[in-house]
Parts: sequence; structure tokens; C-alpha cells
Amino acid sequence: MRLAVTLAAVSAVAAGAAVALASGAQAGSTLGASAAEKGRYFGTAVAAGKLSNSQYTGILDREFNMITPENEMKWDATEPSQGQFRYTSADQIVAHAQAHGQRMRGHALLWYQQEPGWAQNMSGSALRSAMMNHVSTVAGHYKGKIYAWDVVNEAFADGNSGGRRDSNLQRTGNDWIEAAFRAARAADPGAKLCYNDYNTDGINAKSTGVYNMVKDFRSRGVPIDCVGFQSHLGGLPPSDYQANLQRFADLGVEVQITELDISGSNQATAYANVVKACLNVSRCAGITTWGIRDSDSWRTGENPLLFDANGNKKAAYTATLNALNGPGSTVSTPPVSSPPPVSSSPGGGTGNGCTATVSLNQWDGGFVATVRVTAGSSAINSWTVTLPVPSGVTVTGSWNVTRSGNSWTNVSYNGHVEAGQYTEFGFQATGTASGLNPACSAA
Ligand code: G3I
Repeated sequence: MRLAVTLAAVSAVAAGAAVALASGAQAGSTLGASAAEKGRYFGTAVAAGKLSNSQYTGILDREFNMITPENEMKWDATEPSQGQFRYTSADQIVAHAQAHGQRMRGHALLWYQQEPGWAQNMSGSALRSAMMNHVSTVAGHYKGKIYAWDVVNEAFADGNSGGRRDSNLQRTGNDWIEAAFRAARAADPGAKLCYNDYNTDGINAKSTGVYNMVKDFRSRGVPIDCVGFQSHLGGLPPSDYQANLQRFADLGVEVQITELDISGSNQATAYANVVKACLNVSRCAGITTWGIRDSDSWRTGENPLLFDANGNKKAAYTATLNALNGPGSTVSTPPVSSPPPVSSSPGGGTGNGCTATVSLNQWDGGFVATVRVTAGSSAINSWTVTLPVPSGVTVTGSWNVTRSGNSWTNVSYNGHVEAGQYTEFGFQATGTASGLNPACSAA
């Protein structure tokens, strides 16, 4: 059972208070850094076969702090023969992310496309049990390494029905989606679990079908934490794009733009509008583009991405970066749902000008720690948290921080914190978190 522990809870900061950002701090100069200034991520789909291309990885590691494998975690890739799992390409991408401080979105555990041949030929209870075995095994393999999983992809029909898409998965019984979410939660209790789809970007029959499912899941305690909006667009996003994100966010789930690419002549404006909509929704956690350069796109000839085939920044890149650096709400995304924290203790490491507190999402074998640095009665310009990592714990990734051994120091954009305000950084680790006692010092 997942054990959620809140350590060293600190008072005095109103719920939902702004993550403090450097007022007048230098605007971010990369997509990832600028998104992080707003408490969000900026990601891209990655193909393992391109990781040996230095132009590709140069842009990837400079600009993006979240990675989705474009094809390598799909069913046909990870279980080509029934019961025989193959993770080589996907593991390569995860290793790259870990080596470069990037987080991972897992994509996708169950999807009616890209089923391996053996599954395409199955039905009924044999298929249902193969599906659940697949979810448990793959989510279990990546336990502790995935920020969010697309547990189910594209299960709703296009058009006006608002209902499910027919597929062999659907024909195993309407409850296949909730069964998949339950299996994924059991296998990786720390990962956020998402439903992901396309043509759900505005308020329409299909997105309303998804909305009703999410509402039902939330009311019945089916573990769903996020909804992915692919946003494969042919121009400006629909006028009710932000309102649609907001209605899902109001159900208590995180929303994510998961596969953004935009064709057409008003591409730059369209990208900016998508970014602004996300920044205006406090539970919009981040944006992922579906590839890096136009030449990497599945939409051959449409040039829908932010970099041209030579790796140069396009006008759409500049518009995206400017929008990320513009106004926007502070992110406030819900933690992985239930069970609630089982214990808490007051205190926290108060030091010279700042206080550090840690909250944990611990599961069997790993955890995510979120460290909050709160300035005292004066503004601070830099901070260091001393936080020894317990023995047996291996940090697999971190964000919004530079680590040197036990010292965790601010990065360029989050050193300045106004009096009484806070900023947060985090890390993911394998092992058991115990006795994490942070001490904070600031200048
Ligand atoms: O790698 C093989 C290659 O060995 C073979 O010679 C070639 C011949 O067809 O196929 C290659 O695999 C292709 C693969 O992309 C890698 O390029 C598959 O045929 C092709 O079907 C696959 O397309 C992917 C598609 O999903 C279907 O899985 C696209 O790259 C990928 O961008 C696209 O992504 C989807 C998301 O997962 C879900 N949402 C929609 C999105 C766009 O379709």
C-alpha cells in the first residue's frame, strides 16, 4: 500500500500561496527553464533511434525537461510476444532522461493502435487478462521513474456520440479503463495516472464524454490523476480551449498538453495561445510537443514543430518562449490522489533567513520528495538546503535545483524569494525515505 507521509509540515503559508519567483529576475531563455519559472514543465516526444544525433540531443537537453517516448513504451514495442517483455529502447530513453535531469511521461499502456499482433487476435477474458498483465508488468518495470503515465490512450469515439470507441479492448467490457487505472496504481503508486486523447481540445461531444468518465471515476474513487490533451492542431486552438482545460481541472485532476503540434500560417500565434491557456489554468502542469524538429514530426510536410529541419528556432519557438515568460498563474497541481497523508510532524529546518520543509510521496521501493524553501522576514537572493540522502537511497532525478552531494542549491531563476514567500524543488529516488531533515541557509 502506498504510504504518503508529510514530514515537517510548516504553517504560516496560506494554501495556494504563490510559489515565489524572482521579481525582476532574468526571464528564462529556454523552454524548460521558462516553464519551470511558472512551476511547469516543457517536454517533447523522443525517439530512441535519434539519441545518437548530436544536433537532436543538443536541442533536447538545452530546451526540454520532460520526455515522452514517441513509440518505445507502446504495447507492440514492450511486449512483442505474449509474456516476453522488451525494454531496451525505452530504457535507453529513461537513462538519457535520468542523466540529464529530465522527467518522463510514460506513453501508453493501453491503446487500440500499436497492439502487438498476438493481442490483435485476442478477445474476451483472455485479452482482458493479457491487458492487465501488460499494465502491471510495464508500470512495475518503470516504478519510481515515471512522472505520469498515459494509462489509456484514445478510447473515445470521434463524432457526436460522446461514447467509447469500438475496439477489442472495449469489447472486453466497459470497465476495462478503470481496471487498467487500478492495475497501474497498484504497480506504480507514485506515478500520476492520465487518460489521454485527441480532438478533445475544445468543448465538444467527445471531450464531454471524457469529462463525464473522469467525473464518474473521481466520484467512485477510481485512481485517475490527470487528463492529457494531445492538441494536434491545424491552426489556432479552439476559442474554448482554456475553458475546456479548466472544466477538467475543476474535477480535481491535473491537465497536461501532451502531443502539441500545430500546422498552418498562424502557427506562432497558435503556439502562444496554447501556452497562455495552460498558464491561465493553475492545474495545467506542462506542455509536451510531439517531436523536436519539423523533420522529426509524424505530420510529414506540415512543419508543425518549434525547430526547423536544421535545428534552428522558428518564429513559433520565439512566440512560445515569450508566452512562457509572460504573465501566468502559479501552478497548483494536485498530488497523486488518495490515500491521504498518514502522519505529519511540525518543524522543519529553520536556518539563516529561510526554512526548508520536505513532503513525501513514498511507495514500496521509491519516493518523490518536494522540498519547500520559505524565506524569513527578509527577501533572500540565494539558498542552499543541506539534506543528506539516507543510505540505500539513490536519487534518480531532480528538478528546479542543483545538487552537490548533500547540498541542494537554487538555480538561476528561483534563488530570489520574497519575504514570507516560498519556492519548491524536488527529486525522485529509489529506496525508503526516513530521517530526511533539511537545514536551510540563505544569502
Ligand atoms: O520502426 C519501423 C521501421 O523499422 C519500419 O521499417 C517502418 C515501416 O512502416 O515502420 C517503423 O515504425 C513506425 C514507427 O512510427 C516509427 O517510425 C510505424 O510503422 C509507425 O506506425 C509509427 O507511427 C507512430 C504512430 O504514433 C503509431 O504508433 C508515430 O511515430 C507516432 O508519432 C504516433 O504518435 C501518436 C501517439 O502515440 C498517440 N496520439 C497520436 C500520435 C500521432 O499519430
